[in-house]
Amino acid sequence: MEKISACIFDLDGVVVDTAKYHYIAWKSLAKGLGFNFTKEDNERLKGVSRMRSLDILMEIGGVDLDDETLLKMAAKKNEEYLEYILKMTPDEILPGVKDLFENLKENGVKIALGSASKNAMLILKQLKLTSYFDAIVDGTHVSKAKPDPEVFLKGAELVGFKPENCVVFEDAEAGVEAAINGGMRCVGIGSPKVLGKANFVVPGFEGFTFETLKKGLDK
Ligand code: BG6
Ligand code: MG
Repeated sequence: MEKISACIFDLDGVVVDTAKYHYIAWKSLAKGLGFNFTKEDNERLKGVSRMRSLDILMEIGGVDLDDETLLKMAAKKNEEYLEYILKMTPDEILPGVKDLFENLKENGVKIALGSASKNAMLILKQLKLTSYFDAIVDGTHVSKAKPDPEVFLKGAELVGFKPENCVVFEDAEAGVEAAINGGMRCVGIGSPKVLGKANFVVPGFEGFTFETLKKGLDK
């Protein structure tokens, strides 16, 4: 098996559950435009960039707006989203994440972030996790969205390892595909039904260590 030198983590849905805040903010935007937005609809926005999420929302509502108005809508949604993000505390870090970070460090494995979010730096600060990361690549650094591998390839480059020595952790199908497209191995966080293309899938990080990772990839 190729050596594991770095782990690249997606943020939303892997390190923290921000989907619930995205949902509230998108729902309130939809309400203002006169249509309903459901939890099932929200599933379609996981891992998807802010503007692409807005496109999907407009498609759901059957609303057609010009580009300038769309930009204003995206800014409005983000303002509401930020109200929730600013109230976030380290208590919201998903179970097992911090232990895994410590364990990876003890094993000399580098940790990088590979997120589509333009709010990633703020979220890491709220969670007091910034200092764990050897490299951070977020939505402000990339021009191509997942499933394009750009975000993960940049992360690998920043920590100084080849894609084959990096493992990605993802909760979205497009993210798993991005890892594969970049020549990296991938652990899915969530349901095997959605993340079947990953090397293996776990429901979460509780009890998950570097050993678990090596064993899972060995199978
Ligand atoms: C991804 C989330 O990580 O970031 C998406 O899964 C979100 O739901 C995207 O739309 C962009 O986030 P932000 O914070 O830049 O609006
Ligand atoms: Mg995600």
